Amino acid sequence: MISFKQVSKSYGKTPAVRDLTFEIRRGEFLFLMGASGAGKSTILRLLHHSIRPTSGVVTVGEFSSDTIKERQIPHLRRKLGFVLQDFRLIADRSVSENVAIAMRITGESRRKIEARVNEVLGQVGLIGRAREKAGNLSGGEMQRVAIARALVNRPLALIADEPTGNLDPETAQGIYSILDRAHIGGTAVFVATHDRDFVDRAGHKVLHLEHGRIVIPRIAPGTAPRSSKPSSSVSC
Ligand SMILES: Nc1ncnc2c1ncn2[C@@H]1O[C@H](COP(=O)(O)OP(=O)(O)OP(=O)(O)O)[C@@H](O)[C@H]1O
Ligand SMILES: [Mg+2]
Repeated sequence: MISFKQVSKSYGKTPAVRDLTFEIRRGEFLFLMGASGAGKSTILRLLHHSIRPTSGVVTVGEFSSDTIKERQIPHLRRKLGFVLQDFRLIADRSVSENVAIAMRITGESRRKIEARVNEVLGQVGLIGRAREKAGNLSGGEMQRVAIARALVNRPLALIADEPTGNLDPETAQGIYSILDRAHIGGTAVFVATHDRDFVDRAGHKVLHLEHGRIVIPRIAPGTAPRSSKPSSSVSC
C-alpha cells in the first residue's frame, strides 16, 4: 500500500536518510523511533511529497515519487491524513470549521460534510467544543482537532509526527487511545515518536532509525527486550 524502496535523501551534502526499504501495510500500526536528527520527519515529508527522494522510490497507493505529476500530488495527499508537528489550525475559526475545511475540497455536500465532521469530532471526544475557536483550545485539544482533520477524508493511513511531543502523560495517553481506535477502525497508523514507554506498552511493530538508516535495536547482554514484539521490530 505504502512503500519505500532504497530511498535516500540528502539536503545539499547532508545525508538525512539512507537506503530505506520498508512497507506500511493496509490497516497496520507502525511506530518510527529514532533520536533527534535520525531522519523521522524527513520520512514523513517524503510521504507527503513536500520533498522528493535523492534516489529510490516512495509509493503511496497508485502513485510513485518517480512518475507522479505535480498536479497529482493533492490527490496523493488526500489518501493520507497528516498530523504534523505544528498543528496549522486556523486560530480564529471554530473547531468544526477547521475540520470541515479539509473536506470541502472533495466537493461533498454541506450536509455530508457536517455529518462526517460531527462523526470525527465524536471519535476524538470534542463534540462539546465544536463551536469553540481553535485558538482557545489547550495543546491536547488542538492535537485532537488535528487528528480529526486528518481522519475526516477516511485516509488509507494516518501519519503523525511526534503527536504527544509537548503533552503530559495523561493527555498523551488520550491521544494514543484515539490513534488506537482509528487503527481498530481499519486505518493504518504510522507514528514518529521518541516516546519509548508508549511504544513498549502498545506492542505494535517498530522501525528503528539511527543516523538515517533502519537498524535492529541493540539489546544489552542480560537485559530483556523492552518491546513486547521484538521479533517484528524491522519490516524490510
Ligand atoms: N531543510 C533541511 N536542510 C538541511 N538539513 C536538514 C533539513 N531538514 C532536516 N535536515 C537534517 O536532516 C537530518 C534529519 O532531520 P529530521 O528533521 O528528519 O530528523 P528527526 O528525526 O525528525 O529529528 P527530531 O526528532 O529532532 O524532529 C538532520 O541531520 C537535520 O539536521
Ligand atoms: Mg522531526
